[in-house]
Amino acid sequence: MPVLVSGLAVVFAFVYFAVKATSQGGDIVLEPSANTSGQIQIIDRLDFNVFGQEGLFRQSSVHQFFNPTNATPPFFQVFDPSFFSVLGPNPSIRVVASNPSFEFAHEAPIWLSDTDEVTFASVDGGFPGVSDINHNNRVSKISLKDVEDAIKMAGSSPTPINVTVTKLDFPETVQMTNGGTGPLNGSLLLVNSGRGPLPPSVVLADPNPPFATRVILDNFFGRQFNSLNDVKIHPTSKKIFFTDAPYGFALQFRPSLLLPNQVYRFDQDSGSVRVVADGFNKSNGIAFSQDGKTAYVTDTAVNNGDFGLDQTAPATIYAFDVDPKSQRFLNRRVFAYADTGIPDGVQLDTNDNVYSGCGDGVQVWNSEGTLLGKFFLGSVSANMIFAGQGRLVILAEDAIYFAEIAASGFNLAH
Ligand SMILES: *[C@@H]1O[C@H](CO)[C@@H](O)[C@H](O)[C@H]1NC(C)=O
Ligand SMILES: *[C@@H]1O[C@H](CO)[C@@H](O)[C@H](O)[C@H]1NC(C)=O
Ligand SMILES: *[C@@H]1O[C@H](CO)[C@@H](O)[C@H](O)[C@H]1NC(C)=O
Ligand SMILES: *[C@@H]1O[C@H](CO)[C@@H](O)[C@H](O)[C@H]1NC(C)=O
Repeated sequence: MPVLVSGLAVVFAFVYFAVKATSQGGDIVLEPSANTSGQIQIIDRLDFNVFGQEGLFRQSSVHQFFNPTNATPPFFQVFDPSFFSVLGPNPSIRVVASNPSFEFAHEAPIWLSDTDEVTFASVDGGFPGVSDINHNNRVSKISLKDVEDAIKMAGSSPTPINVTVTKLDFPETVQMTNGGTGPLNGSLLLVNSGRGPLPPSVVLADPNPPFATRVILDNFFGRQFNSLNDVKIHPTSKKIFFTDAPYGFALQFRPSLLLPNQVYRFDQDSGSVRVVADGFNKSNGIAFSQDGKTAYVTDTAVNNGDFGLDQTAPATIYAFDVDPKSQRFLNRRVFAYADTGIPDGVQLDTNDNVYSGCGDGVQVWNSEGTLLGKFFLGSVSANMIFAGQGRLVILAEDAIYFAEIAASGFNLAH
C-alpha cells in the first residue's frame, strides 16, 4: 500500500529503549541482556516480559519500535533460535541503493532471473509532489550484478553502496503501480491503483524496450475497482489473485469507494473474475504457500492514509485454506499481528516461513505464526523479494537493502 506513514516515521522515529526496569534510587537502569555478534542481536524474551511500574512503555505502534538492545540498524533481531536457519552462519545486510529525496522503492518487487535484475515501484500517493492525482508513480529497476560487483569492491564490512536505479518507460496505461509478481510469460504482472478517473488495472508489461504493455483487466462487470494493491499467481492453478484496497481514496488520488475491499481471482484464459475472500477493512498484501494450499492476506486497517492512524484496528496477517476446487479462501484465522506499523507485502521462503514488510523492517514468522526474528531497519519496509539462492532484496521506500542469508524463495515466474 502507499505509506504516508513512512515519510512521517522518518521524522518522528526514535529508537525505543525497552528497559528491563530495575529501579535503583529511582533511576531506570538499562540492562540489556544482548547477545551481539556482527549484525546479530539475540533477544531473550524472558528478559523483557516485565517492564515494571517505572517502565517506559510504547505509546505508538507506528512511531516507536521494540529495540531493547538499542542496536543501530540495520541488524538481525533474533527472537527464536530457528531464525538461524533463515540467516545461516554468516548473514549480512546493507543498503545498496538510496535516494533521501524520493521514495523510489515502495512495492511491486519482481526478480528477473534471466538478467538478474529486480524491478519495483515508487510510492503511489502520500509523498506530495512526486505522485498524486496529477502525477503517475514510477517503475524502476536495479541490477543485482551491479550490487554483487559493488559489494566485492566494498569488502567484508556491510557499508552502504549506491547502485544505479533505472526508470522503465511504461506507457500511461500503467498508472500508479502498487503490486507486482511474475514474470508471467516473460512480462511483469503489475496491478495498478488507477489515478483520478483512470481505472485501476491488471497489466502485463515487458521490462525491455519498447516496454510493450497489455491491460488484461480493468473492471468488475463494468464497475471500476477501488485501487488494486497486490497480486500473486497461484502456484499450481496459475490463476491470478489480487487484492483491492481503499488507499487511492485514502491518499486522495482516487474517488470514493465503489466496491468492498476484497480479494479477487482472475482466470486469465477464460476471463472469469470472482471474489474469493471478503470481510477486510483494508485488504493489502497476498501470498501463497509453495504448495498453493494456504493463502495469506494482510489487513492494514491501522493506516488510513491522509485520514490518519488507528492503532486499535487490525495490523494483521490472516491465513486461509485454499479450496482445491473453487479456490475460495476458507477457514480464515489470525496468522500474526505485527507489533510495529502494518504488515504490508508478504512473501514466503521454501520452508514456509512468512515474511512481511512492517513498520520497523521485515518480520519473519514460521508457518505456525511464531515470530522468529526481524530484518530490523528502524524504518518502514512495504515489501521484499527473494532473488535466487540466499538473496533477499528489501524495499524500504527511500532505500533498498540487500541481505545475504541462508533462506531462498521459490519460483514466482510462470
Ligand atoms: C551469545 O550467543 C552465542 C550463540 O548462540 C552463544 O554461544 C554465547 O554463549 C552467547 N553469549 C552470551 C553472552 O550470552
Ligand atoms: C545515490 O545515487 C542517487 C543517483 O545518483 C542520488 O540521487 C542519491 O542521493 C545517492 N544516495 C546517496 C545516499 O548519496
Ligand atoms: C501466458 O501464457 C499461457 C500459455 O501460453 C497462456 O495460457 C496465458 O493466457 C498467458 N497469459 C496471459 C495473461 O497472456
Ligand atoms: C476501517 O477502519 C477504520 C478505522 O478503524 C474505520 O473508520 C472504517 O469505518 C473501517 N472501514 C470498514 C470498511 O470497515
